[in-house]
Amino acid sequence: MAKVSGVVSATERWRRGRRGAAYTTGFAAQAAAEGLSMPPDANAKTHALDSAPALRVSDLRKTYDNGVQALKGVSLDVRPGDFFALLGPNGAGKSTLIGIVSSLVNKSAGQVEVFGTDIARHRSEAMRLLGLVPQEINFNLFEKPFDILVNYAGFYGIPREEAMARAEVELKRGHLWEKAQVMSRTLSGGMKRRLMIARAMMTAPRLLILDEPTAGVDIEIRRGMWRTLREINAAGTTIILTTHYLEEAESLCKNLAIIDKGTIVAQGTMKALLAKLDIEGFLFDIDGQLPAALPEIPGATLSAADDHTLDLEMPRAMDLNGVFTRLDAAGIRVRSMRTKSNRLEELFVRLTGQEQAQ
Ligand SMILES: Nc1ncnc2c1ncn2[C@@H]1O[C@H](COP(=O)(O)OP(=O)(O)OP(=O)(O)O)[C@@H](O)[C@H]1O
Ligand SMILES: [Mg+2]
Repeated sequence: MAKVSGVVSATERWRRGRRGAAYTTGFAAQAAAEGLSMPPDANAKTHALDSAPALRVSDLRKTYDNGVQALKGVSLDVRPGDFFALLGPNGAGKSTLIGIVSSLVNKSAGQVEVFGTDIARHRSEAMRLLGLVPQEINFNLFEKPFDILVNYAGFYGIPREEAMARAEVELKRGHLWEKAQVMSRTLSGGMKRRLMIARAMMTAPRLLILDEPTAGVDIEIRRGMWRTLREINAAGTTIILTTHYLEEAESLCKNLAIIDKGTIVAQGTMKALLAKLDIEGFLFDIDGQLPAALPEIPGATLSAADDHTLDLEMPRAMDLNGVFTRLDAAGIRVRSMRTKSNRLEELFVRLTGQEQAQ
């Protein structure tokens, strides 16, 4: 308990002290999550600031020096408190967009506001509201997690005592506290990614942006990270993440935008977008050889993927019993079945008319 109250008082000092009004809401949310009630003046500021979108991108364009037009007029709004997915195939422009928002890449044209603060006119103020988790592991592998977090906070001018208290909170939240003093190089891949998130949270950003945080990590680790991100979001931090995994966006996000070749091709609630996916695909593994002529299945399309595998596409509303009856009547014995495809790819195909997500 003593440690927790130490953190609260650090938070309070932070909120009241050096950072000014722009920081108040982040800590108001943080404090609310920690069960604190905020003084009335702080709450008033919270409401005023929360009327601005967490992120507003207007007609953003980027042409790289080599002539590649990575963004061709992108506009989107992310509401405060949202958990927002930015989906798109390789090369769509996701990292370029994130790079511009986090001031790592220069835009060619357009405007970006973070909680109403224009990043071009008030860069450092806007950047203080924002935490970034880049795709690549970019901490020093020969430092200890605790030191990585405390030193990072130091770059932002956070006093050491406060930084140490906050590092404990963030390492515990990321289930890394028992690894606080080991060499980071010895952490597993999943732990390293959680450490990246913990580091970004050291400045208590109001907007946390993650560029493919779960790329290449197994499903168990991914689920653990989802839990951490949900907790962070529930405590009041707006989250934007890019991902290639539709099930990730589906599980976490309320709203999303799909970007393709530098243009937003769809934007809205997760639910509305998924409704577009009304076709389901299955693969059946067959015992023995397939007959020369496959049975007709009304309303569905059946084809042979290879000598021992059938490929079925059918409307989501249709049930599978009729399919099995017909396969049975044709003497086809199904040994196992799996759902086909990456549904995100299907969604891309539908929205963009691409053959496949490249
Ligand atoms: N520094 C750069 N110089 C030149 N072209 C670049 C640069 N960075 C990105 N591009 C190009 O801009 C386009 C968008 O790339 P970007 O990295 O933003 O896509 P992405 O959606 O993040 O892709 P991925 O899912 O593969 O990470 C691509 O055609 C890419 O080759
Ligand atoms: Mg990228």
